Amino acid sequence: MKILGIETSCDETAAAVVADGSKIISNIIASQIDIHARYGGIVPEIASRQHLLTIIPVVQKAMSEANAGWQDIDGIAITYGPGLAGSLLVGVNVAKAIALATGLPITGVNHLEGHIYANWLSSPSNCSCPIHWANGAGKVRFPCLCLIISGGHSDLIVMKGHGQFEKLGRTRDDAAGEAFDKAARILGLGYPGGPAVEQAATTGTPCIPLPRAWLKGSHDFSFSGLKTALWHLAQKEQISATDAAASFQLAVVDVLVGKTIEAAKELQVKQILLSGGVASNKFLTERFLNSSPIPVLIPPPDLCTDNAAMVAACGYYHFQAGNASSYDLDVVPSLSLG
Ligand code: KG4
Ligand code: ZN
Repeated sequence: MKILGIETSCDETAAAVVADGSKIISNIIASQIDIHARYGGIVPEIASRQHLLTIIPVVQKAMSEANAGWQDIDGIAITYGPGLAGSLLVGVNVAKAIALATGLPITGVNHLEGHIYANWLSSPSNCSCPIHWANGAGKVRFPCLCLIISGGHSDLIVMKGHGQFEKLGRTRDDAAGEAFDKAARILGLGYPGGPAVEQAATTGTPCIPLPRAWLKGSHDFSFSGLKTALWHLAQKEQISATDAAASFQLAVVDVLVGKTIEAAKELQVKQILLSGGVASNKFLTERFLNSSPIPVLIPPPDLCTDNAAMVAACGYYHFQAGNASSYDLDVVPSLSLG
């Protein structure tokens, strides 16, 4: 069964064809990073206009790279939330138009659920990174604990089966990716912040003491105190940007890894599944793999950040469960999971 996935929730215009919920046949991503970089962050109005310009060529490229005509596709999976309303609208309307013209069924995918399903995608043949897929990609065992760490979310979610999600914890303020982006701005490291902080940290020493919000007795996260501490420090004294980046990254990773493993042990889950842009951070993934007694699945970096292959994989399981959407599917910018 081949699914066309479409993703336009934020600043990536993406389309992919995935077979049987796991095999990537094509995976096209048009990034808007260069366009938004000059503003230091995503400008929603520009993002939606850019999606309008690129969505049709991106879908066409995904279809042609898959060597597929519409008769080869069995369904369309489309992200309908959470995300930027104007951006989501472009993808949802294109998906509905294709469905109407071809008669194919569509299914609306929660972007966060989509991120989790990156763990079902089988290793693309060009993935040579030894730490990814180390624990058996696609071999997910329930119940598992999903840590979704992206620009807008830091959620801990227990997954008991396909489509069965229970939220265990969330961020009380800044999301993990948002904290990386803000730290990069404070340190003058540029945009997007996550990769910039990770890069700077490779030559820095984590010698600056920064606070960690453990929030004992809760599975929630909080990163705003850490960000504010870094801001005060940068105002007060001349600090090395690389040492500050390494110290900040260590503080975020200590909390994400520590609290996730603690929750996984408490709940006796079989696996930990990472997903979301921050899960492409190598320092974080190495720490998880080195310190977790419970197997950790980690998609390769380009499947952690926004893509449509994960949406197609998730859509496959929706269709398997009989969950198609009707043509009145609408965007839900504040959609949550679990
Ligand atoms: O999942 P994603 O691509 O989009 C959202 O759904 O938000 O995540 C984007 C976030 C950004 O905040 C970005 O700074 C962060 O993921 N990120 C990283 C890294 N790569 C991307 N954070 C830390 N280290 C990285 N290498
Ligand atoms: Zn995302």
